[in-house]
Amino acid sequence: MRYGRFSPDGREYIIERPDTPASWNNYLGTDQYCAIVSNNAAGYAFHRSPKSGRMLRFRFNSVPMDRPGRYFYLRDAADGDYWSATWQPVAKPFNVPGEPRREGAADYRCVHRPGSTRFDSSYRGIDTSLLAFVPSGEDAEVWQLTVTNTGPAERTLDLFGYVEWCFWHIMQDAMNFQYILYTCRMAEVDGIIDYSLRLWPFEEPKGFFACTARVESFDTDREVFLGAYRHEGTPQAVERGVCGNSRAIGGTPCGALHTRLTLGAGEAKTVTFIAGVGDAKTKGHDLRKRFSEPHATTQALAEVERYFEQRLGKFTLETPDADVNAMGGIWNQLQCHTTFNWSRSASFNEAGGRDGLGFRDSCQDTLAVVHAIPGEVLSKLKDLLRAQHSYGAAMHHVQPLAFEQGKHNITLPHYSDDHLWLHIAIPAYIRETGDLALLDEVIDYADEGSGTVYEHLKRALDFSYRERGPHGLCLGLAADWNDCLNLRGKGESTFTTFLFVRALREFLELLERRPGAKGVEARDAGHYRAMLVEMEEAAAAHTWDGEWFLRGYVDSGKKIGSRESVGSTIFLNAQSWAVLSGSGSRERLVAAMDALHERLATEHGAVLNAPCYLEHDAEIGAITTFPGGLKENAAIFCHANTWPVVAEAMLGRGDLAYKLYRSFLPAAKNETADVYSMEPYVYAQFITGIDHKAHFGRARNSWLTGTATWAFVALSQYILGIRAEYDGLSLLPCIPSSWPGYRASREFRGAHYDIEVRGSGRIRSARIDGKPSTPSEDGRLLVPVAKAGSRVRVEIEC
Ligand code: GLC
Repeated sequence: MRYGRFSPDGREYIIERPDTPASWNNYLGTDQYCAIVSNNAAGYAFHRSPKSGRMLRFRFNSVPMDRPGRYFYLRDAADGDYWSATWQPVAKPFNVPGEPRREGAADYRCVHRPGSTRFDSSYRGIDTSLLAFVPSGEDAEVWQLTVTNTGPAERTLDLFGYVEWCFWHIMQDAMNFQYILYTCRMAEVDGIIDYSLRLWPFEEPKGFFACTARVESFDTDREVFLGAYRHEGTPQAVERGVCGNSRAIGGTPCGALHTRLTLGAGEAKTVTFIAGVGDAKTKGHDLRKRFSEPHATTQALAEVERYFEQRLGKFTLETPDADVNAMGGIWNQLQCHTTFNWSRSASFNEAGGRDGLGFRDSCQDTLAVVHAIPGEVLSKLKDLLRAQHSYGAAMHHVQPLAFEQGKHNITLPHYSDDHLWLHIAIPAYIRETGDLALLDEVIDYADEGSGTVYEHLKRALDFSYRERGPHGLCLGLAADWNDCLNLRGKGESTFTTFLFVRALREFLELLERRPGAKGVEARDAGHYRAMLVEMEEAAAAHTWDGEWFLRGYVDSGKKIGSRESVGSTIFLNAQSWAVLSGSGSRERLVAAMDALHERLATEHGAVLNAPCYLEHDAEIGAITTFPGGLKENAAIFCHANTWPVVAEAMLGRGDLAYKLYRSFLPAAKNETADVYSMEPYVYAQFITGIDHKAHFGRARNSWLTGTATWAFVALSQYILGIRAEYDGLSLLPCIPSSWPGYRASREFRGAHYDIEVRGSGRIRSARIDGKPSTPSEDGRLLVPVAKAGSRVRVEIEC
């Protein structure tokens, strides 16, 4: 069953029935203010940090799952009937498109697009259109509501706007009621709700809630507005038709504004509500004034649209698959920008308690946005380098805000992979920008001292080289990419070993580009080349199980992911990363990928390991604690599903790459969204695996996942095959044989490349700006770096 659809241009996702199986969300905001908004207007908002700058509340693990939100209630003054401009929270019976209409039922629609969400409703002759967005440069969210009387008679309506404030620090908000309930000082200033707190150590957060219409009454105390033993669906003030003009000094702060609309037949009126950070007297007043002007919303929204157009428009594509176009062109890219901004810290599942950056997550998050926002990527990379210790390992979790305050935040234990992701992210940045000078920049280490980026990179390699186990493979340490594979002691990870091999290759390739690579660099090249050979030999000798690659060894020496193993006998990442490492015999790599298709792939994607673990195994770690098919125990972990797509493209098997890519593509789940459950327009962290009998195919934890980045990398760089290289833009398409070709465009170092590929398979001939050009021996076409501002036309026949 489906709940919505993409607009024909893919820019919008239109939710046509509001009772989606989970909240289907959007992220509003372009800078420091972020508003998470569900298809029923639920969600929260924060400024800079979801943990310590939380303005609007989210009730953790709440029933219903999405409370509270920004709610707009309408009440018919004639008979007291009331409803909300979104289906929740009042939840009137609704009509379902395609089914017979029901007498007295309402119509609801929600349209998410990059940077804004619109909600339309129709109930008893009253239409509403509610538009939400965060104006660029403002720490505030705007909710513009237009109410239209479609009936023949005049109507008088009471309109209420409602928000619930959060105590600025969410841990306190969730736990320490004996404190937080006695802190707020609420006021009403010239019709604007003023939310203020004084905190110790001294901090004075402020928020406001304003509306552009005449305020008839207001509430700042949630208990007065909702009433005891009630909830957002049945507010007492709305039922009564007037607020209590409460001023909470201590208590449960809310913002509720009531205005009255009289609408003649066919008449429409617009009221704009604004909730934001700052003082009611100044900021609230200014923004109310700004959004009282007739074209203010249109102009501000156009700016937001431009902002997203600039980001998402730097890579466009046109393939024969509409799902691929909507995802790759818009939604996958939008999700990449969202993960880049908020790492894993602000969603409905990661509700803000752990903010900051996951080291490995944020390194990877740079990969899909570097072509669009290289400057922002550079500053994030510097934050991450700043979180690397002088001995090479990285902090697993980074708080750039703590660095800003001069606080050093050393975290232990170390993970075996974190620091190695620098070797994926930094070369990607330099390939994109040509900025080799970055290698000479000096950056502090997290613990002591400083070094050039070049030195940081070397220390990352040296750390992995030191931390090897009995087979000469990388130790697993606290965990590798799989947070729940906790090998400890002498346990070794083949995944980290493959990542290390890839890192060494990346570093050696980078060394060749160093201007005047001699002296130190020449010595380094010899040293790291020998290290690479040694690691390749160890990998060849100890990672192969006969038909596929092992996942590692536990402390006591037992193999993980082997035909001999008890529990899981094969793991996804070992196969894909053997290919991604860039080493190993083709025969083994192909056999391993074939085993992956045979033993791990399902119609919803490949499971992380099979069969699932049934028994707890302390030597393997937390993956053995989850019920089979969930999370790291044999779920279809979407992030890890992107790597076999890359791997198949690296092996030149385009049909298999595309088959895997589509198997977990959210848009491809649109018609079965009742099973899939999460948003069909963004990736989720995992899809429940086949070992879970009840929920196979059900997605969980959407939005903030590394899947976004790697799915975009897999599609753009490997299936379409458009990749930034040190010397130009390279093309090596690996599309399915069913595609007659594709068109794409991409910005690269300030120039614009229009690409047209006709046919599938190896490149047979190519033209760059009409001139014939020959692909290199490995089959790729290198398009030289063009002058910034120029347009290059690339035509390829396969
Ligand atoms: C989560 C983490 C990520 C980790 C993955 C697998 O998505 O954010 O860092 O790699 O789980 O455990």
